[in-house]
Formats: sequence, structure tokens, C-alpha cells
Amino acid sequence: MKIRICLGTCCHLMGGADLYNFLEEQLEKSNRDFELETPSCLDYCNQADYEAPIVEIDEEIHDDVTIEKLKNILNQE
Ligand code: FES
Repeated sequence: MKIRICLGTCCHLMGGADLYNFLEEQLEKSNRDFELETPSCLDYCNQADYEAPIVEIDEEIHDDVTIEKLKNILNQE
């Protein structure tokens, strides 16, 4: 699984670093094989009205990603 958490200015201000720290902690506890990246922008910030970071998981973009939403996404994978 390849996970990219945007840490560009917009996403960082909306809690991107908190999301990254949460995810890193969760993935370390699990046995899942993953690749975690932190791009500086996923080119989505000008395309939508959103209030939480953008995350790309296996090339699929998810917007407004809160910790709760991320938990739900990962449980579906
Ligand atoms: S800063 Fe996150 S998509 Fe641009």
C-alpha cells in the first residue's frame, strides 16, 4: 500500500502533520506492508473546497481526510 499525505502549506495548516504522526504510529504497530510519502502538494488544493488534508492511497485521492476518516479508509483496504 502506498500512502501519500500532503504536507503542502494548505494541507499542513489543516493538520497534515498530525495526520502523518497518527498514521506513522498506527502503521508501525501493524504488520501491513506500506510506503509512506509526504509530497509538498498533490495539486488538489485549488480544485476543491476542503477543510482537512488531502491523502492519496494507492493512487486514489481522498479529500477532507481527518483521523477518523483515515481510520475508515484503512479499515476498508
Ligand atoms: S497543499 Fe495539499 S494538495 Fe496542495
